[in-house]
Amino acid sequence: MATTLETDNQYRLPRSVEPEHYALTFKVDIEASSFSGESRTQVRVYEPVSEIVLNAVELDIHGAELMGADGTALPGEITLDEGNERAIITLSGVAAPGTHSLHLTFSGAIGDRLRGIYRSDFTGGDGLARTLAATQFEPTDARRAFPCWDEPDRKATFTTTVIADEAMVVIANSEVVEVTDLGNGTKQVEFAETMRMSTYLVALVVGPLEVTEPVDVDGVPLRVACVPGKAHLADFALEIGAHALRFFSRYFGVPYPAGKLDMIALPDFAMGAMENLGAVTFRETALLVDPARATRLELERVADVVAHELAHMWFGDLVTMKWWNGIWLNEAFATFMELLCVDAFRPEWGRWVSFASSRAGAMSVDALATTRPIEFPVRNPAEAEGMFDVLTYQKGASVLRMLERYVGEDPFRTSIAAYIADHAYANTDTADLWDAVEAGTGEPARATMDSWIYQGGFPLVSAESLGNGQIRLSQKRFRYLDDDADTSSWQVPILLRASVGGAVARHRILLDEKSTVIDLGGDPDWLVVNESGWGFFRTRYDATLAGALRDHLSELDALERFGLVSDTAASTVAGATPVDELVALVALFADETDPTVWSAVLSALGYLDRAVNDVDRPALQALVQRLAGPALDRLGWQPASGEAERTRTLRATLIQALGVLGADETVAATAAETHTRFLTDPASVDPDVAGAVVAVVASRGDDDDYALFLERFRAASTPQQEMRYLFGLAAFEQPRLVERTFELARTEIRSQNAPLVIGRLVDDRQTGAQAWGLLTGHWDELVARYPENLVERMLEGIVALSTPDQAKAVHRFLDTHTVASRQRGIAQLRERLDIAVAFRQREAPRLGASLADA
Ligand code: BES
Ligand code: ZN
Repeated sequence: MATTLETDNQYRLPRSVEPEHYALTFKVDIEASSFSGESRTQVRVYEPVSEIVLNAVELDIHGAELMGADGTALPGEITLDEGNERAIITLSGVAAPGTHSLHLTFSGAIGDRLRGIYRSDFTGGDGLARTLAATQFEPTDARRAFPCWDEPDRKATFTTTVIADEAMVVIANSEVVEVTDLGNGTKQVEFAETMRMSTYLVALVVGPLEVTEPVDVDGVPLRVACVPGKAHLADFALEIGAHALRFFSRYFGVPYPAGKLDMIALPDFAMGAMENLGAVTFRETALLVDPARATRLELERVADVVAHELAHMWFGDLVTMKWWNGIWLNEAFATFMELLCVDAFRPEWGRWVSFASSRAGAMSVDALATTRPIEFPVRNPAEAEGMFDVLTYQKGASVLRMLERYVGEDPFRTSIAAYIADHAYANTDTADLWDAVEAGTGEPARATMDSWIYQGGFPLVSAESLGNGQIRLSQKRFRYLDDDADTSSWQVPILLRASVGGAVARHRILLDEKSTVIDLGGDPDWLVVNESGWGFFRTRYDATLAGALRDHLSELDALERFGLVSDTAASTVAGATPVDELVALVALFADETDPTVWSAVLSALGYLDRAVNDVDRPALQALVQRLAGPALDRLGWQPASGEAERTRTLRATLIQALGVLGADETVAATAAETHTRFLTDPASVDPDVAGAVVAVVASRGDDDDYALFLERFRAASTPQQEMRYLFGLAAFEQPRLVERTFELARTEIRSQNAPLVIGRLVDDRQTGAQAWGLLTGHWDELVARYPENLVERMLEGIVALSTPDQAKAVHRFLDTHTVASRQRGIAQLRERLDIAVAFRQREAPRLGASLADA
C-alpha cells in the first residue's frame, strides 16, 4: 500500500496551498512562435509553508514572489522538476496561513504538437500564408502555458489579459471588458472574470480570424469564429448551437453558466472538439459545413459534436469530476446528452438508432481480455490521456441510457437536474451521481450501476424456454476467447417483450443472480429479451426462441433487428455460432429499410471478407450483390421527393457496399459516371450519393483519377469535401499510389489527419501489407510528428493484417514500439488481431460453402 501512496503523492500537489483566483497576462508573439506571461494568483495558505509546489512543464519561470495580505513580500527560488511536471518555489521565509498573492513571470515556445499553446498555419482567403495560436489543455497541458495547480478539483476564477498584434482577433473564456491600444502595432485585451472552474478549461485563441455577428440565444451571445473566408459555412453550427443551449438550459434547469459562447473552428486540432468554457474549439469538419452539399452523416457529425461540447458547459465545466478516474462522468454524460439533444433537434434522423453502431463498437472492445472498467485508477498524465476511449464514451453513454430507460425518462432528468444544482462550481465522484439518482427515482441505482462501472466486460444473457411459459434467463461474461473461469456477474436491468397467445406484454426484470426463471403465463409466440437494445449485453436464444424470432422479424423494431444481427455476428466471431447460421440470418435482411441495420449486416459481411480465401471471394461478392442490389434498385440513384432523410444514408451505404465490398461492375460504372457529372455540375448529384461514389471511384482508380483526387483535396471548398478526397486518396490500391499517399502523409497532410490516412491504408486487404512496411520504416519520425492520441488511430488497421505471418510481424514490432499514453488501446488492437487470426484459420476453409449456400 505504501508504494501506491508514494506514487499517488508523486503526481498530486500538496493541499497546503490552494488557488482561488488567477490574474493571467499573456503576450503572444505568433511571428516569433513564443509567448511570455505573468500571473498573480490569489492563494489560500492553510498551514505555515516554506515552499509552494505547482505544475509547470517546458516553461521558463523567471521570477517568483509571494505577497502577504499585509504587503510583506517573500521572494522565491524556482526549481523545475521536469519529470514530474512541477515547479517548486522555495520561499525565503515561512508564509503564514491566510490569503496571499503569488506573482510569477514566465515564458515559453509556441509549438506545433497541438497541445499547450500551439500554432496552426493556414492559407488566408487572399492566398497568403497565415498563422494563429490556440490552446488545448485537457487533460494536463495547462501547465505548458502557465504554472498552475493543474488538477481538476483545484477550481479557481480567472481573469485573462492578452497582448497581441492589433490586427489579431483574441478570444478567451469570457467577455471582453476593455481593449487598449498600446501603440507600436499591439493592443491589450482584458477579459471578464470567469466562474470558478478547472485549469483544463482555460482557453485562448489569437489569430487573423473572421467572427460571425452574435446570435442572441435567450441573452447569451453565440458566435462562430473561423479562418477568413469560411464564415459562410457557420449557419448550421449556429442553428444547432442555439438549439443545444436552449435544450440543456431546460433539461438541467440551470442557465448557461458563462456570459458568452464562441465556437471556434481551428485548422489544426488533435481531437474533434474541446469544451473550454465559453470558448469551445473544434476541428473544422466538426463545425463548418454547407448543408446543401454535405451528406446527412456529415451534418449529423456537426450536430453531435456541438451538442456534446455544449452539454459539457454544465456537465463537466459547471460540475466537474474530482480526478481523472472519473472522466467517464464528463464524457459518458456529454455523449448521452448529445444524443438526447440531437434526437430532439432532428427526430427524423433516429439518432438513438444509429447509436447502436457505437454501442456495438464499445462491446467489441469490452469483450476483450484487455478491457478495463469504465472507472479506473489514474495516477499520471499518460494514464489520464489513456482514459479517453470507447469505454469511457460509448460504453459509458450506453449504460447511462440503460439506466434512464429502466428508471424512466422524467425521474432520471429530475435527478440529474438536482445533481447539477447541488454540485455547481464544485467537483464530484461517481457516488454523488448515484446518490442523486437514488433520491430522485427511489431505485437502488448505486448497487445496480456499480457492477457496470467498476467491472470490465458485459454479460451474455441466454434465454431458454422450459415449457409452460417458463423462461430461464442466465448470464455469463461474453468473451471472444471464452474463459470458463470467469465468474463475473452483473445486475442486469432487463426490459423483455413477449407475445403469448397473440397478446404482447412487457416485463421489467433485474437479473442480479447467475440465472432466474420467469413465468410468461404460457409459451411465447416470440420473445425479445433486450427491448430496443437498451441493455448493454448480448443475447443468445435457444433454438426454439431463435426460430420464433426469425419468423417474426416484423415484430422487431430497428434496434432489435440490429441487435439480432450484431449479437449473432459477435457470437460467430467467438466461435459459438456457426458461420452458416450468421449467413442464413443476414440473408433474411434483403428487404431491410433501416440504414443502421444494414450497416450491421454489411459489417458482418465485411468481417467475413477479411477472412475469406481469394478463391471464395466471388461467392461473398455475389451474396452482397444478391442482398444489396435489389435494395438499391428499389431506391434508385436519385432521391425521391419527400423521401425520409435517412433513406439518403441508406442509398449511399448500399452504393458503397455494392461498389467496393460487392465488386458490382454495374454499380461501379454508374458510380464513375456519376462522379464525372458531379465534377462538372455538383448540384446535379445528391450529396450522399456524391460521398459514396468518391469512395467507389477511388477503390478502382488509376493515376489520372489520383491526380484528380489530389487536386480536389487541395482545392476543396468545404472541410467535408476536403476529407472525402483526402480519404479517397487512401483508397487507391496500386502500390505506387499507396507510396504517394504515404509520402503525402509524411509531408503535406496535416498531423491531425495524416495518422488517420495511414491507418486507412493499413486497414485494407490490398494495401495493408505495403502500408505496414512503410509505417514501421518511418515509425520514429511519425511518432515524433503526430499527436499521441492519433498514433493509436494510425494502428487501428492492424486488425486487418490477419494472416499468421503478418500478425507475428506486427506483434514483434509492437513489442518494442509503443506510445506511453496509448498502451492499453494498442494492447486491445493486438488482441483483436489475434481474434481475427483465429477466426480466419478456423473459418476460411469452410466459408466458401457457407456463402454459396445462402
Ligand atoms: N473533452 C473532449 C476532448 C478531449 C478528448 C480532450 C481527449 C482531451 C483528451 C471533448 O469533449 C470530446 O469528447 N470531444 C470528442 C468529440 C465528441 C463529439 C465525442 C472528440 O474530440 O473526439
Ligand atoms: Zn467530451
